[in-house]
Amino acid sequence: MKKTFQFNDNFVDYFFDGSFASLKEIVDSKNSIIITDENVFAAHEKKFKKWNTIVLKAGEEYKIQATVDTVIEQLIEMQADRNTTLIGVGGGVVTDITGYIASVYMRGISFGFVPTSLLALVDASIGGKNGIDVDVYKNMVGVIRQPKFILNDLSFLKTLPDNEWRNGFAEIIKHAAINNLAMFRELEKNNLLFYQKRKKELAALIQKNSLLKTKVVQQDEFEQGGRKLLNFGHTLGHALENQYELSHGQAIAIGMVYAAKLSQQLLNFKNAGRIISLLEKYGLPTEANFDKIKVLGVLKMDKKRQNDFINFILLERIGKAVIEEISIEKLYDNI
Ligand SMILES: NC(=O)c1ccc[n+]([C@@H]2O[C@H](COP(=O)([O-])OP(=O)(O)OC[C@H]3O[C@@H](n4cnc5c(N)ncnc54)[C@H](O)[C@@H]3O)[C@@H](O)[C@H]2O)c1
Ligand SMILES: [Zn+2]
Repeated sequence: MKKTFQFNDNFVDYFFDGSFASLKEIVDSKNSIIITDENVFAAHEKKFKKWNTIVLKAGEEYKIQATVDTVIEQLIEMQADRNTTLIGVGGGVVTDITGYIASVYMRGISFGFVPTSLLALVDASIGGKNGIDVDVYKNMVGVIRQPKFILNDLSFLKTLPDNEWRNGFAEIIKHAAINNLAMFRELEKNNLLFYQKRKKELAALIQKNSLLKTKVVQQDEFEQGGRKLLNFGHTLGHALENQYELSHGQAIAIGMVYAAKLSQQLLNFKNAGRIISLLEKYGLPTEANFDKIKVLGVLKMDKKRQNDFINFILLERIGKAVIEEISIEKLYDNI
């Protein structure tokens, strides 16, 4: 079933209980090019048979300009034009890079997503942020531009490795922590295996998270206010992610613990322990040894920095996040 959501002047069709087979009814396959990665392609090769497909190497280290360049060369070779639709079929790396390429190729062509990782289903495919990394700086270059559609086919998850399930839960726990106490309690009650085994509950959880993020973005697409709250755990997380070769989920889990402890000190937040326990329950790391000076160097380049202050997302309580301006100096002392 199709549900359409409006983001300022743009409409995005969501298919929550879609199937890959119905993609041909959404776009004209002759005028479409799929971008995927080698893991998703290898695990689902049959599905791609009738589609023009560009297969990327898998991994965050390929979410860079060099990959954009090779894809653009292939698009020119394949004679992609303004009527071509690009479809990112994959995890957040594939959706981020596909949306970015579609936004710059011929000054912008249309695009859609089939998110295949839990993380992409609940987070990366939603909201129109598409970008690439530059050196250790995450998402340093990018655009905000909405896809035409997001088609969810949860059968892709059958081949998703366990550690990638855990990464997806990092964003789900983030959503619960900043916005939804009831979901936080639900997650505390259940565990990873529960959702892996129960299709209905999993589908409901994915939809709940997708709607939560959609609503936040609809209210503040260009991140002037409320959308910033989605960065909970991401300021320190991003600084750690590419320096220490942590996955996105692992990095933001550590970032959330740090932010929860800071919330304890600055806002008298009482439940850092519950955040830590929940992350542990879903197999995520809650601490890391890192070089303070190195990490602060990257933090200083954070997109949320203004002069010597960073807009840091803290928790007042579970389900209620706030934006606090914190000086780099204070962060240094508390890191
Ligand atoms: N644009 C946004 O708003 C937003 C939000 C959150 C995260 N992100 C970005 O998303 C990225 C992380 O996303 P991710 O964790 O999905 O990373 P990813 O795309 O690297 O996918 C993780 C791994 O799982 C594999 N995979 C994906 N689907 C599979 C499937 N169905 N079967 C087997 N293997 C599969 C991939 O090949 C990869 O090895 C980061 O770059 C992050 O910055 C973007
Ligand atoms: Zn994230």
